[in-house]
Amino acid sequence: METTHRLAAGDARALPLGSSSVHLVVTSPPYPLVSMWDDGFAVGAPEVAAALANADGALAFETMHQQLDAAWAECARVLVPGGWLAVNIGDAVRTLGGRFQRWPNAARITMAAMRLGLEPMPDLLWRKPTNAPNKFMGSGMLPGGAYVTYEHEYVLLFRAPGVRVQDPGLRRRSAYFWEERNLWFSDLWAGVTGARQARAGGRERSAAFPPELPWRLVQMYSAYGDVVLDPFGGTGTTALAALASGRSSITVERDPSVLAEVPAALREAVPWGRARVAERAEAHRAFVAARTAAGKALAHQNVPHGWPVITRQEAELELWEPDAVGAIAEGVLATHRRFVPPWLV
Ligand SMILES: C[S@@+](CC[C@H](N)C(=O)[O-])C[C@H]1O[C@@H](n2cnc3c(N)ncnc32)[C@H](O)[C@@H]1O
Repeated sequence: METTHRLAAGDARALPLGSSSVHLVVTSPPYPLVSMWDDGFAVGAPEVAAALANADGALAFETMHQQLDAAWAECARVLVPGGWLAVNIGDAVRTLGGRFQRWPNAARITMAAMRLGLEPMPDLLWRKPTNAPNKFMGSGMLPGGAYVTYEHEYVLLFRAPGVRVQDPGLRRRSAYFWEERNLWFSDLWAGVTGARQARAGGRERSAAFPPELPWRLVQMYSAYGDVVLDPFGGTGTTALAALASGRSSITVERDPSVLAEVPAALREAVPWGRARVAERAEAHRAFVAARTAAGKALAHQNVPHGWPVITRQEAELELWEPDAVGAIAEGVLATHRRFVPPWLV
């Protein structure tokens, strides 16, 4: 199997892609009213800069979101019918004009996506503990004066209208284990951590999410060979997750110095993906052993790997791992091979 990984310096509000050409979007945009993104929103948008200078939080919030609205419209255009959009976003907390308040980014994006005809689906709460020593804000122990500490972000999920046309065999080969379903489709994700390897010359603070986050979404909402897009691609964590999973990817990023780090992420995807596949196989082996020891039968057999499984839907599940990557004109070409568990070699 081969996959391609395209890199494009460009704007999420004008994607260099044809309509209905992407099966899944996984992204994390700049967060409105989180100060590290103020300058980015103000580029070429004097109304944002003026709203911030006047400490007009409501106007800054709205004008920043209008920029993101244009990106969601592009996502709706490029998604195939029945394709999925996953948006990692946190609400902001900030004092502007002397008043502290929460700025509900997740709610605002949900309303924008609905207006575009995207269907809101049950979302995920990503529990993201802070290690800040001063994590409690406000006036301490006096009622009505302290603020709840935010230690979560969202993964908002939307589906494009229409029905996804899929190769049924490929879909069955892309199945996940029953026990993975039970974990991944629970609405609270705790313990999804782990930054990528620090790279020499890499940026200190790229706001990258842990690879496990896009990786799970890729398993949950796409099949082998599908095309996964990140329109706010950053240093390429979504592309890493796609390559590690035998999917193609497209990374669009406005800042060329950030985009320049994506090839390193794609090379990193080979060892990362192999380790993650081995971990899946080992976890399933342990699951089977524990269940068998508890006297509970696994009623079905997985044909490609010969493992006992719980449901018939797992019978054709195949694990593939990245083999090698090489440069092509628009990015990277990856080859993939069927996984053979080390205990069978
Ligand atoms: C929250 S970061 C994404 C980080 C990414 N998930 C990763 O793992 O590296 C948002 C990214 O969007 C980029 N960006 C901001 N506005 C953009 C736009 N209009 N079009 C494309 N990229 C944009 C920023 O430069 C930044 O790299």
